[in-house]
Amino acid sequence: MIRLAILASGNGTNAQQISEYFAGSDKVKVECIIYNKKDAYVAERARKLGIPAYYHNRKDFYENGAVLNKLRDMKVDWVILAGFLWLVPEDMLKAYPNKIINIHPALLPKYGGKGMYGHHVHEAVIANHEKESGITIHIVDDQYDRGSILFQAKCILTDKDTPDTLAEKIHLLERDYFPVVIEKTVLQ
Ligand code: GAR
Repeated sequence: MIRLAILASGNGTNAQQISEYFAGSDKVKVECIIYNKKDAYVAERARKLGIPAYYHNRKDFYENGAVLNKLRDMKVDWVILAGFLWLVPEDMLKAYPNKIINIHPALLPKYGGKGMYGHHVHEAVIANHEKESGITIHIVDDQYDRGSILFQAKCILTDKDTPDTLAEKIHLLERDYFPVVIEKTVLQ
């Protein structure tokens, strides 16, 4: 069994979709969800899904090794960032070389980097009158949104699109592709 840990910061639709996708799998298992905002709705989703969820603060990630120890204790093989908004700590990168996967709601290298997350991305894309946007699934390295790209999918934008309608299009792409790309990547 290949064990995944999902790291999330907010709503958790991706975390839920990944968890549901692998619920019946005999090859891949979502072992836990770790979140870094106390009131993140992802915790409620995890409870409903019956997946252990743990809150950890900045110290646990960057100073005392608590999160990394937990991943090791749970024998986690791959770490999935599903709307996780902090830079991955260096010791975690070293412990999981090329085994941390992120999803970004734009066509990297455009609209990536610090501060470019969630709605901020969609607002910038709409403000620039882009004709298309999409999702990028990539391996995580020590910089925001820079690691090697595993997969991209596009959506078309019209003059009528707003940050909200773009967000909906992106969420559909995420639902359709993120779990299958994770599966393909961890099983290869
Ligand atoms: C997703 O759209 C994801 O691509 C984005 O945050 C959203 C989280 O939604 N990630 C980033 O912006 C990372 N830079 P969710 O919590 O409902 O899955």
